Formats: sequence, structure tokens, C-alpha cells
Amino acid sequence: MAPNAPATRPANPRFSSGPCAKPPTFQLSDLSDAALGRSHRAAIGKDKLRAAIERTRDILGVPADYRIGIVPGSDTGAYEMAMWTMLGERPVEMVAWESFGSGWVTDAVKQLKLEGGTHTADYGQIVDLAALDWSRDVCFTWNGTTSGVRVPSGELIPADRAGLTLCDATSAAFAQELPWDKLDVTTFSWQKVLGGEAAHGMIILSPRAVERLESYTPTWPLPKIFRLTKGGKLIEGIFKGETINTPSMLAVEDYLNCLDWAESVGGLKGLIARADANAKVVADFVDSHDWIAHLADDPATRSNTSVCLKFTDARIADGAAFAKAVAKRLEAEGVALDIGAYRDAPAGLRIWCGGTVETGDLEALMPWIDWAFEAEIAAQAAA
Ligand SMILES: Cc1ncc(COP(=O)(O)O)c(C=O)c1O
Repeated sequence: MAPNAPATRPANPRFSSGPCAKPPTFQLSDLSDAALGRSHRAAIGKDKLRAAIERTRDILGVPADYRIGIVPGSDTGAYEMAMWTMLGERPVEMVAWESFGSGWVTDAVKQLKLEGGTHTADYGQIVDLAALDWSRDVCFTWNGTTSGVRVPSGELIPADRAGLTLCDATSAAFAQELPWDKLDVTTFSWQKVLGGEAAHGMIILSPRAVERLESYTPTWPLPKIFRLTKGGKLIEGIFKGETINTPSMLAVEDYLNCLDWAESVGGLKGLIARADANAKVVADFVDSHDWIAHLADDPATRSNTSVCLKFTDARIADGAAFAKAVAKRLEAEGVALDIGAYRDAPAGLRIWCGGTVETGDLEALMPWIDWAFEAEIAAQAAA
């Protein structure tokens, strides 16, 4: 028999892992001060871009001697810009435990054809960071968005490493502590944890990363969109808001609005607390149901943003079809949008728990997952 539907619905059913829910207070009219139709090189445009950089520094606690730039191509643009400009000087350790990290491995192995090693782990597991050769450059993703597995802390990254660390922190920045002294290149995009708009990425460089840029020239050609140096010197303007090419001033305004909201909830501390509280709602649900589990095996590696779950009930005949059907039921009811597992990841659900999601909405969603699961088990039995 099909179960009764819960009485309460999430006020906002947006639990997508990117673009993520906008800040709960968001209204389009918040963007009415955007410098639309103005040059991004005029004082008004440059001031806004500079503010986006400096307020990012304040909220994330980025050290004063690190450079922060706004770059094209979202996180992908930022990360590949780092790979293409800095790698090749020494062997590289490519590290991946889900789809996005695997994409960077493909870049290194098939496109750049770099010398070095590849270290991978299955979805749900993490690579042993202690086993890496940190005299090489190390490329990794802090929070694996498609498996819900994150680096538990920066402890295993040696402070005195000779290589650079290139960290894709797209789904970690603004939700997790990032140990800046262990990260030479950090990238993320606006569309993730703060619920900003896509298109632009941020690249954060340690002094050692800048030294690499100024002392090393790759053997391959670099398109203008990737060039961070001119005549062997860093183009400092990029890190003051003089972007390589034209940014969307609407997206910039939106990001500034996201930063306003981030400050209003207590900055990074407040954002982490919100994500932790959200992830706990899901973890408590998982703990009290024996047919669902985290994809991440080790609780210490469980993400507080992209929480990935798998169904474990022995009655399920076709895991992929079952998970899809559950996500479809939830979407049809308008209680959860976009929570199917990522296309390359194991079947299951992925529920975004970053700070822009309200804890009450996750609390309202959990009984619906129960409902959709029971309904699907019943439908399967009846088929
Ligand atoms: C870890 C990670 N890296 C890279 C990306 C790609 O980001 P973008 O589409 O903003 O370039 C994503 C997007 O979900 C991600 O989660």
C-alpha cells in the first residue's frame, strides 16, 4: 500500500548542488545597484570588482599576502588556468576520488601529458594523502561534490612541501575551513556555496604560487584567457579587479549581495554552522533508517555541503532505476528539485546542505524521502 504523504513541505525545494539555492533573503531587486551598461574598467565597475575580492578575503580569512583574482570560466576556468600556467615545472601527483577530480586527472594525463603519478579512490573513499610525494605538485579537490567525500583537515599536507598544492575548493569554500598555509592555489566559483551566479571563478594564489608563475614558463602555448603574467611578472591588476576580459556586472552585483548575506549570518563561522546543522539533519535521518546510508564510508570525510546517499535495501531490484524514481517522485511533488546523484556517480541521492539552504527545509524534506522510498518499494512490488 502506498504511504500517506507528509503534511509539511519545504518552503524552498531547491537542494541542487550547483547552481545552488540563492541566499534565503534573495530578491531580484537586491541587484538594482548593478553597474549595468557601464564599463567594468570605469571607477564604478572596478570598485565593485575590487570589493568582491577584498570582501572575499575578509570572510574567508585569506592571508594578506595571497592574491585573489576574478577569472572567466567559473571554477573550471580558474582551475585549468592554474594547471596550464603552473604545472610541468616538476612531476605532478594527480589525486581524485570522484568526477571533478577525475576531470583534472584527464587534463593532466591526456591534454598536458604531465610526468608523475595518479592516485584515485572509489566513490565513497578517499586517497591516502600521507602516501603522496609532496615534493611534486599535488592537484586535488577539497570537497568531492559528486561523492560527498571531503578532506577532513589539512594536517596531512606538509608545511615544508617543495611542490605546490592546487586545490579545487568549489564546494568547500564558504562552508569548510580551508588551511591557507597548506594551499598554494585555491579555486572556486560563485555558483556554489553562496548561491551566486555562474560564469566567474576565483583563483587564490599563495606567494609560492606567484613565485612559480614568475619563474617558470610552460612549453605549451597559453591562450590570453589563461595568461596571468606578462614579461615574466605577475599581472597585478588582475588581483585588483582589472579582469582579463569582460565580466558580467550583474553577476558581480549578485556576488556582492551574497557576501552581504554571508556577513549577516556571521561570516565563515556562521556559514559553517549552517552547513553543519543542515548535514546533521540528513545524518540523523540516515542513522534512524536502515535502508539508506552515506556514500562516504568514513564519517570524518563526510561533506557538510554535497551530502551523497545510497539506498541499501535488499528488496531493491535495480538500484539506478530505483534512485531515479525516488528523485522523480520528490520532484513531481515539488518538495525536492535536482537531488538525483551526479550522472557519473553511483546511484542515489545528493542533497545540498550548504548555508543558503534553510535547516527547516531539510527537516521538512526528510519525511518526504521516507514517503518516496516506501511508495517506490510498493510500486516495485506491484509491478
Ligand atoms: C568540485 C567541483 N569542481 C569543479 C566544478 C565545476 O564548476 P563550474 O561549473 O563552476 O566550472 C564543480 C561544479 O559542480 C565542482 O563541484
